Order: sequence, then structure tokens, then C-alpha cells
Amino acid sequence: MKTTGNTVLITGGTSGIGKAFAQHFLGRGNTVIICGRRNDRLEELKARYPDLVTIQCDLIEAASRENLVRRAIQECPDLNMLINNAGIQLTADLTNPIDLSSVEREIVTNLIAPIHLSSLVVEQLRGRAEPAIVNISSGLAYTPIAFMPVYCATKAAVHSWSLSLRKQLENTGIRVYEIAPPSVDSELGHERRENRDQTHGGMPVNEFINEAIKALESNTLQAAIGQAASMMDQRDALFERLNSHF
Ligand SMILES: NC(=O)c1ccc[n+]([C@@H]2O[C@H](COP(=O)([O-])OP(=O)(O)OC[C@H]3O[C@@H](n4cnc5c(N)ncnc54)[C@H](OP(=O)(O)O)[C@@H]3O)[C@@H](O)[C@H]2O)c1
Repeated sequence: MKTTGNTVLITGGTSGIGKAFAQHFLGRGNTVIICGRRNDRLEELKARYPDLVTIQCDLIEAASRENLVRRAIQECPDLNMLINNAGIQLTADLTNPIDLSSVEREIVTNLIAPIHLSSLVVEQLRGRAEPAIVNISSGLAYTPIAFMPVYCATKAAVHSWSLSLRKQLENTGIRVYEIAPPSVDSELGHERRENRDQTHGGMPVNEFINEAIKALESNTLQAAIGQAASMMDQRDALFERLNSHF
């Protein structure tokens, strides 16, 4: 994939990985559109990067997703790339009745929104130069951590859906990439911390972006970064071993 001269829509550009992708792509001669719920963050970024296109949206709402894509194409008719990055990470205690609204919020944000947005951009991407959809999954797609059961399930589903999307789009010219991050130092899971800005450790976000860009530039359609690589490789090896008997 070429990482210059694109027009990229990045969901969730107000912090963490999405913001760092946006900064990287802006610095490399791409047109970048970001979205998020927090308008103060969008305004702050727009003031810092006047060329950045910002659109406030809440990906929970289908109408907000449709409006996002409509506005992105209106303002940037050369749109050729979607990065499905926005996500939330919640815990759930499965030994008690679950909070259904949290479960639904997590599934819609992490899985339904990327599926819907991708379907909305296919027509636009078809026929553009080097069109691509990039899905951000997780090392936890390959092995779950039990205290975030719904999060891990959504990421496993993002992996599965990415395989199907890649297959279905193979004759359209649209390349489908999946990038599985390891733990990355961002605001993810801030609900569990006292202070939103408190670090939870993990790979520095810019280090992650450098590795992710290397994977995209080398056309690695399914890339796991850092510690996520061994999680993906071990699962793939186990799959091969199990299935070699049949
Ligand atoms: N950090 C890690 O350790 C890690 C590891 C594996 C995978 N990932 C994945 O990487 C992606 C980015 O996460 P991050 O680490 O950068 O977390 P982050 O710093 O919390 O960023 C999440 C982004 O998603 C946006 N977002 C969340 N819900 C939204 C909604 N309903 N509508 C619109 N935007 C929404 C947030 O914007 P607003 O709050 O302004 O809406 C924010 O910009 C996620 O898919 C995450 O699952 C992260």
C-alpha cells in the first residue's frame, strides 16, 4: 500500500491510535478526516492542523454513521481509504446479571459500526487508486482475557469478518487489511482508571504506528504487532496442527 497521497477516513481520531495515525498520515501528504464524540478534542486538533477534516459523530447511532460517510465523501470526494479504528474496552462480570446496555454499546461500537461503515464506503472506494479498508482488531482476538469477555469476542469477530470482507471484495480492487495491536499506551479502558489520562502502560503509541505503517507498506494483509504477533502465530499454528489430521 502506498501511504502518501491518499484520502483517509479514520474513525476515532480524538485520542490514542487514531490520533497518531492521523498525525502520521497528515505529515506524509495525505488528506485526513477524523471523527469522534468529543467536540473539544476535534476543535483542538483542527486548530493545530488546519488541513485536517473533523466530523463529530457517535458511531453507536446508525444515522450518525451514515451522516459521517456522506459528509466525508462530500468534503473529500477522493476518499480511497477507511480505517476502522474507534473502539471501547469494557469489563463484564459474567457471574452476575450483565448490564445489557454496556454489552450492546461495546458490540455496536467495536463490531457493528465497522461492518456498517465498510458497506457504506465500498461504492465510493471501488475504482479509486489503491482503495483500502483497514480494520484494527487486537491480539485479544486470538486469545481472550476473561475479565473483558465482550471486548475480546468483538475483536475475534472483527478478525473473522475481515477474512470474509477480504474474500468478498477480492475482485473489486479494494484491499482489506487487519492490524492486531498489542497493549498500546492510550486512553483505552479509561473507564477502569481514576483519571482518563492515567497511563496503562503498553507499547508507546508512536512505536506502534511505525510498525503498523511498515506492515501496510509491505502489503501484509493480516499483521499482528509486538506481543500480539506471538498470540496470532501460536493460534494459527494450533489451527494448522488440529486440522492436519482431517
Ligand atoms: N490501546 C490498546 O492497548 C489496544 C490494543 C488492541 C487493540 N486496540 C484497538 O485500537 C483501537 C483504538 O483504541 P485506542 O487504544 O487508541 O483507544 P482510545 O485512546 O480510547 O481511542 C478510542 C477512539 O475511539 C473513539 N470512539 C469510541 N467510541 C466512539 C463512538 N461511539 N463514536 C465515535 N468515536 C468513538 C474515541 O473518540 P471519542 O471518545 O471522542 O468519541 C477515540 O478517538 C480500538 O479499536 C481498540 O480496541 C487498542
